[in-house]
Amino acid sequence: MEERPGDDRPQLPQPSLWPVGFAVGVVCLLVGLVISWWVAAAGAVLALVFGFLWARDVATGPPTGEPAVASTAGEPATAEPESGERFPRSRFLEGATLGLGALIGAIVTLPAVALALVPGFLKQKQHRVDLGPLSDFEENKWKIVTFARDPTHADISRRTAFVRNNGLLDGVPSFTIISNRCAHVGCPVQPGGPIFEKDEKVVRTTNGDVLITPVLPAAGFICPCHGGSYDQEGNRIAGPPVRGLDRYEFDIVDGRLVLGDLYSVVKVEGSGKTAKIKKTELRGPGQHADGPEAWFYPLQPPH
Ligand code: FES
Repeated sequence: MEERPGDDRPQLPQPSLWPVGFAVGVVCLLVGLVISWWVAAAGAVLALVFGFLWARDVATGPPTGEPAVASTAGEPATAEPESGERFPRSRFLEGATLGLGALIGAIVTLPAVALALVPGFLKQKQHRVDLGPLSDFEENKWKIVTFARDPTHADISRRTAFVRNNGLLDGVPSFTIISNRCAHVGCPVQPGGPIFEKDEKVVRTTNGDVLITPVLPAAGFICPCHGGSYDQEGNRIAGPPVRGLDRYEFDIVDGRLVLGDLYSVVKVEGSGKTAKIKKTELRGPGQHADGPEAWFYPLQPPH
């Protein structure tokens, strides 16, 4: 077969911005997985759009009328496809290889990634917990309350909170309900004061048994693991925790105290029923609740 001028030269792709856009999209997607759903979604859209444009260029070759490689002075341009041939064979093989590779990669990785990540975001739901009648929570007294967050899995969902009845605020009962999970790496914090175990009481509720024990945390709350220390409002005052203790929302339903969702706290100013709580969405142990450091943690599934 006669060799035509230019046949031995590689067909180089035209310069294109699509790979750059695709790379920017992937970077946005990965950064977004750490800091924000919106950035992740924008990155995914960018990656998809530029990836499609890039793949289309690879599959179709340079625009009609342009040579694959620009000719230089005195040299003929790269050979045009033979008459009747829309795509050179090399381009077809290149596109087919890339497409098949992408397809196989997606088939192998997407199910595993979905199985690993999605249930954590979909199957977790918050449970409202009946803690018993308000009469079990005397005004301005602290109680340690132990309960099952999910009564169908009581053994693995047992939680402890510190509860104080702050009295009425505008005619409505006010409570401070602080989680005992340390904001450092999650150890159970202890009250800094005596626990009156002889006065503990079991209350039967629709969520199972709730154990209520009087306590006097005069020195706030202390973590036995690494010495983290919190005041009575849960603000961090010493040690390695990066924020204060989380709190529970609550409702009063038919004269009973009902626990709601957990949330994290940036700071509490004041105390009791007049405290001003700067709250934020629930963070994991070790996560900052404010400032630039708070941007550098992965998105959290519901707890
Ligand atoms: S887990 Fe509480 S101080 Fe480390």
